[in-house]
Amino acid sequence: MKGSDNYMNLPDLKEAKKRTNKDIKIINNDYKVPKNMKTFGKNKKYYIKTYGCQMNVHDSENIKAILEDMSFTEASEMEDADIIILNTCAIRENAHNKMFGFLGRVKHLKESNPNIICGICGCMAQEESVVEDIKSKYKWVDIIFGTHNIHKLPSILEDSLKDNTQEIEVYSIEGDVYENIPVKRDSKYKAWVNIMYGCDKFCTYCIVPYTRGKQRSRLPKDIIREVEKLVSDGYKEVTLLGQNVNAYGKDLKLNYTMSNLLEDVAKTNIERVRFVTSHPWDFNDKMIDVIAKYPNIMPYIHLPLQSGSDRILKLMGRRYTKEEYINLFNKIKEKIPNVSITTDIIVAFPGETDDDFNDTLDVVNTCKFDSAFTFIFSPRKGTPAYNMKNDLSEEEKNNRLYKLNELVNKYALEANQKYLNKTVKVLIEDKSDKEGYLMGYTDTMKLVNVKADEKYLGKIVDVKITDVKTWSLDGILEKV
Ligand code: 5AD
Ligand code: SF4
Repeated sequence: MKGSDNYMNLPDLKEAKKRTNKDIKIINNDYKVPKNMKTFGKNKKYYIKTYGCQMNVHDSENIKAILEDMSFTEASEMEDADIIILNTCAIRENAHNKMFGFLGRVKHLKESNPNIICGICGCMAQEESVVEDIKSKYKWVDIIFGTHNIHKLPSILEDSLKDNTQEIEVYSIEGDVYENIPVKRDSKYKAWVNIMYGCDKFCTYCIVPYTRGKQRSRLPKDIIREVEKLVSDGYKEVTLLGQNVNAYGKDLKLNYTMSNLLEDVAKTNIERVRFVTSHPWDFNDKMIDVIAKYPNIMPYIHLPLQSGSDRILKLMGRRYTKEEYINLFNKIKEKIPNVSITTDIIVAFPGETDDDFNDTLDVVNTCKFDSAFTFIFSPRKGTPAYNMKNDLSEEEKNNRLYKLNELVNKYALEANQKYLNKTVKVLIEDKSDKEGYLMGYTDTMKLVNVKADEKYLGKIVDVKITDVKTWSLDGILEKV
């Protein structure tokens, strides 16, 4: 009966916090498509809407491959799809609003074609309050699955079809790593490679340790094998992904950490190695040395600051001071020639005073970041900061963000200006939005629009920078 609930597992944020120190299991053979689902998607199309970070983008690449294993093909427009999946982000409130707005459009389509299947997954599916809302107000949503059981999509779908019910399968605690999940990569030149899942840092504002579970690293051999395969398939760049990559390996107890992994990935001779996201706490000297030593590890580091005030950093549970952050920043700048460093900053954290905010501006003035993602604090239910008192008016929060952005943009432009008339290496990866141009990134992760023929797609070329803006550079191919 449509609309009656059939929830096998509901998310529970308190439950999610219960970490055990039981060993992490590496599960190599849990993915399978039930026989009767193998041709379920024949002559049917799928459409996936992805919100949030690269981790979600990569999860969607897995979901695409799983759907194609069931014979679905990709639709270019949502209107043409027989199954629509929303891969959601929970990091801030506005991500919620966007998702519920999008659901309205899906409902409209489903009203004219009730056979359309709608699924919700990703971080919001791990939030109790969201799932409660969907259960009561969006009964027409067919399946909800979490971040830990993407590989179970074929059987979740099968169960939902069998009972014609809303199928909810979300695990709150998951301590395992699943290998051999298929992937359909969006690019032929650059690839995301998960190196770890989850996060144990529990910064007081952040929902991720609850939605993504405890930290668990993939085995080095599995990561290296994946990168070697990418090299032989002609890929030029890999980005190693994790919520806190610097803590890679700590849970494996193999005496093998991020610096070892970076070195081994560099030795596969893939042309470019990147990694996101770093936490200053685990960024050690050995890592800096390895990045400096290997020319194929890109001189680009995203190093979230979050706040420049010691008092606020403490309230955030960040485990470093303003001084420690600046020292680390300077050390990286000294040891890695030409490195670019970007950051994340939150303004208006509960209790942030003018002095605290000025400390943040002070760090920005000291570090002169290449760029920064800036956010107004967004209270996330279930996190410690949700209950902290926040007296600031909306106007003041917006003023702080505006002021910070002005400063960040000034330094971003200054950093880009250093590239004018210089020749840089760019991996040409796609057509640009700019007519007649292709686009790609420098070693230092600067977006460049290049006037060039499409035959250069997938090549690393020398580009002379001819114009400089705050967020991008323009260039022409260097004559050889
Ligand atoms: N409010 C605002 N920004 C947040 N971030 C994480 N949680 C929150 C929140 N509750 C920001 C942090 C993080 C980035 C991915 O998102 O700056 O580094
Ligand atoms: Fe990614 Fe974090 Fe958003 Fe989840 S909540 S999708 S991990 S940014």
